[in-house]
Amino acid sequence: MRPSTSSAPGVRPAEFRFRCIACGDLSDRASQDFRCSHCGDLLEITYPRWKESLPEAAKLKSNWRQRRLSQAAIDLSGVWRFRDLLPELESVEQAITLREGNTPLYELPQCARITGVPRLFAKHQGLNPTGSFKDAGMTVAATFARLAGFQWVACASTGNTSASMAAYAARGGMRSLVLVPEGKISWSKLSQALDYGAVTCQLRTDFDGCLRLLQELVRRAPVYQLNSLNPFRLEGQKTLALELLEQLDWQPPDHIIVPGGNLGNSSAIGKALLEMRELRLIPRLPKLSVIQAEGANALVRTIREAGGKRLVSVQAETRATAIRIGNPASWKKAVHVLEATGGVCDEVTEIEIAQAKAEIGAEGIGCEPASAVTLAGLKKLVKRSFVKPEESVVLVLTGSLLKDPDFTMEFHRGDLFKDVNESASATLKPLRHPPIVLDATLDAVIHTLEQAEKEHPEKS
Ligand code: F0G
Repeated sequence: MRPSTSSAPGVRPAEFRFRCIACGDLSDRASQDFRCSHCGDLLEITYPRWKESLPEAAKLKSNWRQRRLSQAAIDLSGVWRFRDLLPELESVEQAITLREGNTPLYELPQCARITGVPRLFAKHQGLNPTGSFKDAGMTVAATFARLAGFQWVACASTGNTSASMAAYAARGGMRSLVLVPEGKISWSKLSQALDYGAVTCQLRTDFDGCLRLLQELVRRAPVYQLNSLNPFRLEGQKTLALELLEQLDWQPPDHIIVPGGNLGNSSAIGKALLEMRELRLIPRLPKLSVIQAEGANALVRTIREAGGKRLVSVQAETRATAIRIGNPASWKKAVHVLEATGGVCDEVTEIEIAQAKAEIGAEGIGCEPASAVTLAGLKKLVKRSFVKPEESVVLVLTGSLLKDPDFTMEFHRGDLFKDVNESASATLKPLRHPPIVLDATLDAVIHTLEQAEKEHPEKS
């Protein structure tokens, strides 16, 4: 390891600056914990010269469209294609890219019927190279880690950040350190980090404990932290919203709904929406709403009990392990974007999450449990009349179905809520499709087909 700082040689510092979200202090450099040197709050990246230097909206849009025809690695990335609104690189070869972004926007006709919202779409970030939305942020933050001369990058994670970080570190020739809560992340995510060569530590604590330790570590050792406290991550994650709006021909939907864990993604999407409006790329703001699991509802309680003024932490517990976070780092940024876009925050139960996940799966799309909170949340927001049937809604699906096979298997086998909630478990029965073990005979298979038709007549 060799010491370095997080200012980036090779990057023109005048093009972007760090701004403290609390005291507004502006700086060309950030310390390794990415906290304001005056008040200790979080930093965000700002571009003081945009007004003079950026082309106008129509030109930006046509540049981005044009780059889709290019075969250059930087343009094949659905993140760097929007590089005009990202921290600038001196040369495009500097980017560490795995062709992230370029994720589909799907219609959800069956979920539309279930929710009574006909114009319902899913932006599926689970179709990124490592299977989650983290890749969009990681390509930018890993690139700047390497530019700053770091050999080691590190993160605390509920699984997806670590998988993504390990992959980008490997591509960029850096070493990576992963801190995850022991026993509380899915094997598929952990196995990704192992295969990509990370030093992987399963700590006997929760995610919040891992993050606390990481923050101490980066103050002591020349390790570059790649959690979403790192504002470069959020710049990359902004491109989800840019790509979405481009897919909608720059006509904003009425609502965007995202899951909330450490609250980096909602903050990034919100920042993108505000910047897009400022740059006149869109005429108005969609309402951005955040949904949490009931057992990990720090933002819900922060808004409900403290008016968004101070963080109400919780001891997090949910089977949607990706969002099992009780002390979200970016809560202030998230409160700001909810207020600025007119969105709300709500919570959903474990049963509602499992049901929504199966309903998304039944569309032939699938996602991990944390992503399914968006559909479960939409049902609540419709009930509250916050979302009206005639409005358009985009759900952000953050992770692939393949990220948590244990959850899916337990659900379909009927084991998920067996002991805790028998009646709810029965409600979910029609959504279950357990594997069937048979003798290898034609009769047995044909009988099974007939049974399936009887059990699910709605499919014919
Ligand atoms: N969905 C998935 C699939 C996630 O992995 C995460 C966060 C979230 C939603 C919440 O996003 O934290 O930006 O509010 N996963 C992190 C991790 C914390 O370590 O992989 P957030």
